[in-house]
Amino acid sequence: MSRQVASRTVRVDLEQRAYDVIVGHEIRAEIGPRIREIVGPDRRILLVIDDALPNSISEPALDSLARAGFHVTTARAKADEEHKSLEQTGNLLIAAANARLGRDDLVVALGGGVVGDVAGFVAATYRRGIGVIQCPTTLLSMVDASVGGKTGVNLTLEDGSTLKNAVGAFHQPRLVLADTQTLSTLSERNLRCGLAECIKHTLLCADEGLLERTEDNIDGLLSLEPEITVDLVARNVAVKARVVAADEREHDPTGGRALLNLGHTFAHAIETLPHLSPDAHRENAPLRHGEAVALGVLAACRCALELGTCSQDLVDRVTRMVSRAGLPVQIAGMPGDDALIDRMQHDKKTLGGKLRIVVPETGSRCRLMTNPDPKVLQIAWASIRA
Ligand code: GLY
Repeated sequence: MSRQVASRTVRVDLEQRAYDVIVGHEIRAEIGPRIREIVGPDRRILLVIDDALPNSISEPALDSLARAGFHVTTARAKADEEHKSLEQTGNLLIAAANARLGRDDLVVALGGGVVGDVAGFVAATYRRGIGVIQCPTTLLSMVDASVGGKTGVNLTLEDGSTLKNAVGAFHQPRLVLADTQTLSTLSERNLRCGLAECIKHTLLCADEGLLERTEDNIDGLLSLEPEITVDLVARNVAVKARVVAADEREHDPTGGRALLNLGHTFAHAIETLPHLSPDAHRENAPLRHGEAVALGVLAACRCALELGTCSQDLVDRVTRMVSRAGLPVQIAGMPGDDALIDRMQHDKKTLGGKLRIVVPETGSRCRLMTNPDPKVLQIAWASIRA
């Protein structure tokens, strides 16, 4: 029996590009009427469906769009990082052209972060830009990737290395519709990984109660208790929406949107190392993005402790949350400190050759630090080394 849970709407306040993020339980069948309210009837839609999604998720969405009078063409998209590529983008652009999408038509992305980023990039570039609707189906994409308009793909270089998100565009969606019931199709590991971004958000900004609320409700979220899940997802979206509204294009030199990279400079240094595993089982290597982010957030907290911007109590609370979320708090097999710091230097967030990291401050805020003392970074890496 389905439970009645009130949906929540969060506004991303970007003047003429403002849009709503609707978070609810079992709301995917609302997609057709919701889109019609925004763009009117008789549009063509390319519905890009994550290959990993069961038909029980995609069919109600497809039916809803068709019943609302849209002319829908579907395309399946591969959801792994390897397929966050120009090749998949090209295939979807051709699908959009084959479906005869015009300037006023739409792309609808139904899936996780990779599918949302690729489909968003297709919408950003097809005929110099058409509308996109994001329907995220993973926790990570609900609380982070689907909101804020970052779209794009990775580039593979001649030497075989990958530059993550090297090609892309800011392209805000017209609407985000997050049906938390879709989270029940995720593996437990995937769900836990999304929690890493939620833990990151507890350290980020004005919703002072989010830290306590997350501590109190991690188990409810992991068991997908509908009210708790809708509430926490909506609160996390509100954090992201506030940051994006204040600094849409990540231009604020004092932090702004760049603060959302808390933990990520550390994470990027380890997530592409193929042998690292979140546990003792080699077959679980490499780390997933959320696992690397959890470790990165802990390393950033350790930096903050060393720099005196946050308390031991905050570090302990974050460590407990990461552990209760079933995410790693330490990891074996990392290269030496110098190699790790070198890998951090190559992160795309380095600006003009400077290494920038985000460190938490007590009071649910964070600050950007340029060229931190390598000794502090060594202490941070040591704190997550098993
Ligand atoms: N995921 C970081 C951002 O959207 O800016």
